[in-house]
Amino acid sequence: MNIVLLGAPGAGKGTQALRMEERYKLRHISTGDIFRHHMRVQTDIGNLARSYIKKGQLVPDEVTFAIVSGALDEAGRENFLLDGFPRNLAQAEKLDEFARIDKVIDIDVDFSVLTDRICGRRSCMECGYTAHVSDLPDGTCPKCGSEMHQRIDDREETVRSRLDVYARQTAPLIDYYEKKGVLVRVSGMGSPDEVFAEIRKVLG
Ligand code: AP5
Ligand code: MG
Repeated sequence: MNIVLLGAPGAGKGTQALRMEERYKLRHISTGDIFRHHMRVQTDIGNLARSYIKKGQLVPDEVTFAIVSGALDEAGRENFLLDGFPRNLAQAEKLDEFARIDKVIDIDVDFSVLTDRICGRRSCMECGYTAHVSDLPDGTCPKCGSEMHQRIDDREETVRSRLDVYARQTAPLIDYYEKKGVLVRVSGMGSPDEVFAEIRKVLG
């Protein structure tokens, strides 16, 4: 099963991907996570990606696709879960040349809740755990005790730009995949477990 997760920034793609990866034994490929890894270890790709990510803009397609095609090849181009890719029409068309897509799950969330979800998010640099700041009384990771950080693109002015890029470039992919007959929509407004229950209804 080859799956794409669509949804605005903060819709819950990463949260659901972790559950789907475990339940359906899929290879989770998150372009955002891969870029953040490159930024942490300061590769050339990481330095380039940072200059776009901190402004809330998309990293150029050639760089992004090189990363995705490498990860898909590693997965044998089967049983993968793409999170954060494709993000515009050119990426979607390129992906179609490269691999079969069985289902596209669009996690649909009201824009009004996204800014709070994203600006309140804190992530652990050690174990990757994420949580809302209101659930972190002393600012340390409940899982491993390390310090929790805010992503460089999770500040309010950058979030505005990310939501704008989503509306202009990524949202049209809903139509693109609907026309291909592979799109399913799930509401992302419930709790993470409720959203996952919706996804399980779709995937079995
Ligand atoms: P990326 O890392 O993909 O970020 P994003 O798409 O903007 O989405 P997020 O990761 O912020 O949100 P999410 O939907 O994963 O939600 P999450 O589960 O974390 O991309 C970052 C940047 O990298 C891009 O802006 C771009 O610059 C670059 N990039 C990446 N891919 C690219 C591409 N293909 N082309 C070019 N550039 C690319 O949840 C968010 C928060 O809400 C968390 O705190 C979570 O705990 C909470 N939450 C989750 N679900 C729920 C729920 N049901 N109820 C309440 N809270 C919830
Ligand atoms: Mg994410």
